[in-house]
Amino acid sequence: MKKLLINKNGPKTIESFLHAKKDFLQQEEVLNSILKEKAPQYTEIEVSFFQLCELHCRFCWQDSYDPTGITTIVSKAQTVLNYLKDQKDSLRDTIQVHLLGGELFEDSNDYYSQYFDFITIIKDYCDTNLPEKKLLFVFLTNMNFQLETTKSKLEVFLNSLAENGTNFILTTSWDPSGRPLKGEINTKFHSNITYFKNYLSEITFVLTKPTINKLLNNQYEYLQLLVDEGFTIDFDYYMPTTNAESLMPSDWDLLNAFRMLIKTFPNIRKLKAWTQNINAPTKLTCASLSKITILPDGTITNCRHLDYSDENFSTKIINESNSSMIFNFISKKECLSCSYFEQCPLSCFLMSDSKHFSSKKELDECFYKTLFKEKNEQRPV
Ligand SMILES: C[S@@+](CC[C@H](N)C(=O)[O-])C[C@H]1O[C@@H](n2cnc3c(N)ncnc32)[C@H](O)[C@@H]1O
Ligand code: SF4
Ligand code: SF4
Repeated sequence: MKKLLINKNGPKTIESFLHAKKDFLQQEEVLNSILKEKAPQYTEIEVSFFQLCELHCRFCWQDSYDPTGITTIVSKAQTVLNYLKDQKDSLRDTIQVHLLGGELFEDSNDYYSQYFDFITIIKDYCDTNLPEKKLLFVFLTNMNFQLETTKSKLEVFLNSLAENGTNFILTTSWDPSGRPLKGEINTKFHSNITYFKNYLSEITFVLTKPTINKLLNNQYEYLQLLVDEGFTIDFDYYMPTTNAESLMPSDWDLLNAFRMLIKTFPNIRKLKAWTQNINAPTKLTCASLSKITILPDGTITNCRHLDYSDENFSTKIINESNSSMIFNFISKKECLSCSYFEQCPLSCFLMSDSKHFSSKKELDECFYKTLFKEKNEQRPV
């Protein structure tokens, strides 16, 4: 795989984004009606302010040395407003604005007033123009700051958001491999997540092959400790990066990871939804049918952060729409006639479409089907 850079060549305005997407709108409409009951009930606007981060996780898609975006934090709010105005009639009941870096709350950063202004612009617009919608800001952070001053700044910032009635949550991540952070209670990470526990909605990890190997070798003490301490954990599918050759799991790896996770961590958020039939029909893992991503240089994409080559995927890459990939996934697997369709979260379509994933295929049957069969066999009569 060539060195993957963050997408830079796409549209920079909502108008040009929607223009580039126009050939796929009909396809998206069909998918939205087929998958209606499974569609997430929120519109997601993901804003990646910049890529700078000091952790340099091995699986991360970002160029964590690239400062692009640090001077345009507040101005990105206008792109969000343009999207909200243009899509007024198709917005879901909840609008989630996901905010991320790089790392937003690093010791060396001090962008709190810009984050605050960005949020205020969007909140004021929604309060006036979309009062019936629930607006939620989600901060994605590695919670690895070391300084007491950073902790205080973050606390003041969060308190000021709470005081002006902003709905927000924090989410963080910790990975058994690829993230250079020890899984121990004496780390700053652990004291930070403990301190801000009330704001933290979940701790995620990425299902890379090395992480799955650790899970299958019973090396998950810290995840267990997090669960025992009352944190909610969840997983993300691995989005292909330059290291995909060694990090991409096979379908067999995922099947066994899910078997293990269902048994050991039955309350993992995504698994709980589809193994315990909560809010059935199970919602899609992928939000891309009602999502945009705004990248540090202002490029707008659907879900894709990286400038992928067509040669590494089965479906032609369209940065503005995932619809062809979703179509190919459900037709190849014949999902619409599958008896588990209602229960099934489908997948990350980008990961599934990647040739790094398909070339590692070891199973004849769709691994979700195998899981559902096993689950249904275990059901008490
Ligand atoms: C890019 S990080 C930015 C926020 C923050 N620095 C953090 O790590 O939580 C956002 C999320 O993407 C996840 N992530 C990074 N690389 C990924 C990949 N290749 N596939 C899937 N998720 C990935 C991280 O684990 C994290 O949960
Ligand atoms: S902490 Fe987040 S942004 Fe930083 S390298 Fe890791 S995944 Fe990427
Ligand atoms: S179990 Fe497999 S074939 Fe059935 S709906 Fe899910 S992904 Fe499609």
